[in-house]
Amino acid sequence: MTAQSKSRSLERMEDLVSLCARRGFIFQSSEIYGGINGFWDYGPLGTELKSNLKSLWWQRIVRERADVEGIDSAIIAHPRTWEASGHVEHFSDPMVDCRACKKRFRADQLDDAGSCRDGDDGKHDFTPPRNFNLMLRTHIGASEDAGSIAYLRAETCQPIFNDFKRVREASRQKIPFGIAQIGKAFRNEINPRNFTFRSREFEQAELEYFCHPSERERWFAHWQQERLRFHRDLGFDEEHLRTRPHGADELAHYARAAVDVEFLFPFGWQEIEGVHDRGDWDLSRHGEYSGKDLAITDPETKEHYVPVVIETSVGIDRTCLAILVSAWCEEELEGGDKRLVMRFPGALAPIKAAVLPLSKKLAEPAQRLAQDLRRRFNVFYDDAGNIGRRYRRQDEAGTPFCVTIDFDTADDGRATVRDRDTMGQERVPLEGVAAWVAERVDPGS
Ligand code: GAP
Repeated sequence: MTAQSKSRSLERMEDLVSLCARRGFIFQSSEIYGGINGFWDYGPLGTELKSNLKSLWWQRIVRERADVEGIDSAIIAHPRTWEASGHVEHFSDPMVDCRACKKRFRADQLDDAGSCRDGDDGKHDFTPPRNFNLMLRTHIGASEDAGSIAYLRAETCQPIFNDFKRVREASRQKIPFGIAQIGKAFRNEINPRNFTFRSREFEQAELEYFCHPSERERWFAHWQQERLRFHRDLGFDEEHLRTRPHGADELAHYARAAVDVEFLFPFGWQEIEGVHDRGDWDLSRHGEYSGKDLAITDPETKEHYVPVVIETSVGIDRTCLAILVSAWCEEELEGGDKRLVMRFPGALAPIKAAVLPLSKKLAEPAQRLAQDLRRRFNVFYDDAGNIGRRYRRQDEAGTPFCVTIDFDTADDGRATVRDRDTMGQERVPLEGVAAWVAERVDPGS
């Protein structure tokens, strides 16, 4: 089969949702009980995709920089944390109820409410808006009184502020420097929607970069550039990526300035990352609430000051969704055949190579090659069925290379490597396949 004559990108989210369930990228959590709204499970392909994305972020933000340290904090922090951060007081969305159908909606998203199944002429009968706090609550220990209330973290950054002094001293970092973490966050969203885009449990990758107040503009600009560069490396088209500064009326309670990185989904432009100037809000408040001095003394000037924080906060699930949207490509091939190919960049692809013997009789050299490749990559082995259908399954999984062992392999010691995107084929010596794949999926290797 030769290259495509026509190609189409994703138009309907339903098609992606269906592929994700069918191929085991992402599907409803607790599916056998009918699902649970706002919660999602990642299957084998989705878990690899997400893990590759997190590794790339960690590599760029933590490992490649001498001025950033990584942590992995507990999900539940001391409840005073969320009073100090302002979440108990401010972290809410305006909510309305429909008196007729009893459904709840976000008051700022009523255009999407649709018609009411129980109201006159399909009209909702809304209550006045009231604030609904988005933090998920639990109780610690055996008693369930007010004193035992704790919160699942609503953002991963608050424990970073709690740990600021300890991490700075342990790592002997000087201002400016950053602390990063990847982890779960929880929000009791009124209307989870658009697949994983707005969920109640999700992952964030956050960097809190501490600097002198006089340097805030420089670092705010620096981190916007860095984060855009990262998103471009995920394979997003320039036309599907933009930044949008927040207006003064949109700023979160902690932010002095904010810029969203937005991606063009089939349901419109939406935020995937926020870059925020949080000022000295967090350290000052935690200093006040904990009674600990979180200010810094400059070793040269002896100035005693509270550093300001520039934050980059990216949603891992939202970015995975953007990667899935951006990778989607339906092709019409010469001869009228069609294929769906997920064009993931090599570093993100869940499976890097599939080993496909043309006959079960070739299992021995094929298994040996697969085992050799598994030491470096996630590899899939498939010896059943028509080779064309096996290629199509790997195209849907986004596997960059299929390595075919055929009856000539015993004579010439070579395998055929098929490229997912061009469908071009090349004979490669068996002992060189691992390096051949590595060079293309992990250019730094
Ligand atoms: N610490 C700052 C902070 O949490 P945010 O803009 O509320 O800022 C940052 O969230 C990122 O977290 C968003 O850009 C988005 O990618 C992700 N995110 C926020 N709420 C989400 C939700 N309900 N479901 C999935 N991802 C979410």
